Amino acid sequence: MGFRGVAFQLMLAEMLLTATLVSSLSKPGCDALCGDLEIPYPFGTSLNCSLNKDFLIACNHSSTPPKALYRNESDIPVTKVDITTGQLHISSFISRRCHPSTKANSPWYNLPDFLTVSNTENKFTVIGCNSYAYIRGQIDDRNYKTGCISLCENISYVDEGSCTGTGCCQIDIPKGLKRINYTAYRFPDVNQTNIPDIRRCTYAFVAEQSKFKFKPSYIFDNLTENFPMVLDWAITGNAKCEECKENTECETTEDGSGYRLQVQNGLRRESIPFQ
Ligand SMILES: *[C@@H]1O[C@H](CO)[C@@H](O)[C@H](O)[C@H]1NC(C)=O
Ligand SMILES: *[C@@H]1O[C@H](CO)[C@@H](O)[C@H](O)[C@H]1NC(C)=O
Ligand SMILES: *[C@@H]1O[C@H](CO)[C@@H](O)[C@H](O)[C@H]1NC(C)=O
Ligand SMILES: *[C@@H]1O[C@H](CO)[C@@H](O)[C@H](O)[C@H]1NC(C)=O
Ligand SMILES: *[C@@H]1O[C@H](CO)[C@@H](O)[C@H](O)[C@H]1NC(C)=O
Ligand SMILES: *[C@@H]1O[C@H](CO)[C@@H](O)[C@H](O)[C@H]1NC(C)=O
Ligand SMILES: *[C@@H]1O[C@H](CO)[C@@H](O)[C@H](O)[C@H]1NC(C)=O
Repeated sequence: MGFRGVAFQLMLAEMLLTATLVSSLSKPGCDALCGDLEIPYPFGTSLNCSLNKDFLIACNHSSTPPKALYRNESDIPVTKVDITTGQLHISSFISRRCHPSTKANSPWYNLPDFLTVSNTENKFTVIGCNSYAYIRGQIDDRNYKTGCISLCENISYVDEGSCTGTGCCQIDIPKGLKRINYTAYRFPDVNQTNIPDIRRCTYAFVAEQSKFKFKPSYIFDNLTENFPMVLDWAITGNAKCEECKENTECETTEDGSGYRLQVQNGLRRESIPFQ
């Protein structure tokens, strides 16, 4: 990106700051809310109101409360947009398998590459006895695949709040993970004298750690709740932080895959994706 690009970004940033200081965080004339969800720029509910289609959050008003979906062709519910941390919270889909021989669904996320699964906020979680699950994805151009296993040697050892491999298993998310999908599996339910109900299910999902607490009832009844997943956004490109001008700060994002331009005027900090 040349100087013009940078200058434009800065102008845009300044305009934005002026606009945001007097009213809401959205572009003038644009919806700031979808139901209770705040939609600050660069996100917006139409192409005109967002930086580009990757920042589009479609607001469907035909349900009450209105439903916010990421872009307009996806079915991914958006639960929070946080431009100060550069994070997008979405509702995590659950892979569910209730019998070894039935097929589980494999949720996948068709997201742009700059949206990575936050490694600091989320964990891959598997719930069930006799259960395991795989998570697949990409880190840069490398394929990533791993799994987590949960057994119940004795059903009475399954403890509230404990996710250490008995009834519930969790693993960390690596930095920069994108394009994920995950699938729940069960070992054949043979000779499960210590596990009374073999119809119990296995669940797998990626969830924000602070919003998830394991409850044994997730095993004994069906899990019907959904948990949020936190995505970090980072724009990759040729832009260098040194190109930023006074009154701005640029920082590489936590996962090292891109930059966020931070504009500071003493009152408010805005994160603007740097393209
Ligand atoms: C975007 O803005 C242009 C110019 O103001 C207008 O003609 C167009 O209808 C708008 N498109 C949408 C999708 O709102
Ligand atoms: C909005 O939601 C309704 C009901 O959930 C659905 O029938 C409709 O297709 C949705 N509209 C769009 C534009 O997605
Ligand atoms: C979704 O957005 C694209 C542009 O990104 C547009 O061409 C398409 O018509 C939109 N679809 C709906 C259902 O709004
Ligand atoms: C799951 O993710 C991996 C890595 O991103 C990909 O190669 C594979 O095609 C994906 N599978 C599905 C069913 O989306
Ligand atoms: C089932 O488990 C019991 C007790 O652990 C064992 O004695 C028996 O051989 C097992 N049966 C099969 C078919 O694995
Ligand atoms: C499971 O644990 C309980 C409580 O410690 C114990 O009474 C029971 O015998 C155990 N069952 C098996 C099959 O080991
Ligand atoms: C849990 O869900 C499975 C599959 O949808 C169903 O067969 C089973 O009856 C449900 N169990 C309970 C306790 O709701």
